[in-house]
Amino acid sequence: MHSLPDFHVIKVKELCHRYASRLAVDHLSFQIKAGTIFGLIGPNGAGKSTTIKMLTTLLPITSGLAQVNGFDVSLQPQKVRQTIGYVPQQLSANGELTGYENLLLSAKLYGLLKPERTERIEEVLHFMQLYAFKDQLVSSYSGGMARTLEIGQALLHRPPLLFLDEPTVGLDPFARKTIWRYLKKLNEQKGMAILITTHDMEEAETLCDQLALFHNGQIVAMDSPSNLKAKAGSKATLDDVFILHTGNSLKEGQF
Ligand SMILES: Nc1ncnc2c1ncn2[C@@H]1O[C@H](COP(=O)(O)OP(=O)(O)O)[C@@H](O)[C@H]1O
Ligand SMILES: [Mg+2]
Repeated sequence: MHSLPDFHVIKVKELCHRYASRLAVDHLSFQIKAGTIFGLIGPNGAGKSTTIKMLTTLLPITSGLAQVNGFDVSLQPQKVRQTIGYVPQQLSANGELTGYENLLLSAKLYGLLKPERTERIEEVLHFMQLYAFKDQLVSSYSGGMARTLEIGQALLHRPPLLFLDEPTVGLDPFARKTIWRYLKKLNEQKGMAILITTHDMEEAETLCDQLALFHNGQIVAMDSPSNLKAKAGSKATLDDVFILHTGNSLKEGQF
């Protein structure tokens, strides 16, 4: 079912999330087709992480509908969890364990049984080019290697859809580009759909087929990077698109 090109891995209608008095996600509607890399961009506090947390079942939906891989997020959260990978904004790998041990822990959490577990861990170590470092403690890894491992941990159950919340924040330019290469490879070779949030307009432009620009919990523009730029003016950059729709300078939004 997931290989159909017009299958939507995400369908969201009038989705809201309220924290006490604040409506952080305000009647969002969008759809993501299988095999797409979809970017959520927008200033800090725009509602990107809250949206990801609802779609990954980590936060309750206040109102509206969300479907992930054909499953209703509110009614079938277990099915959703089994068919997605999630790399959170904060570091999640355990520094006191080796790369291999971190993968083993995730494989057990996903309920993979022994022979399959060993095979999947080997596959991820090779795909993410971490094999030579598998027995080193993660505390000795560079930031880029730790992020690569975390992406690997999210792939063990071969989900058709991967969620990444600001995956390259704090990484040096080389590590950033390495992560982009792996994400492109996952998308092109495995047909994986990816939903990524980022503040980095170069990242958004390099990776994403479609972008949704968030502002105050709403989507204020949604299109391919090239169409968004074309609509903003003949020489417009994505930074210009961002400022046009949010009235916010990137620098203000970036602390
Ligand atoms: N746990 C929380 N309790 C109350 N308000 C929150 C909480 N998490 C986020 N918010 C608020 O919700 C809004 C959206 O936050 P968030 O989804 O983290 O935005 P983004 O990821 O786009 O920076 C912000 O105004 C933020 O302050
Ligand atoms: Mg966030």
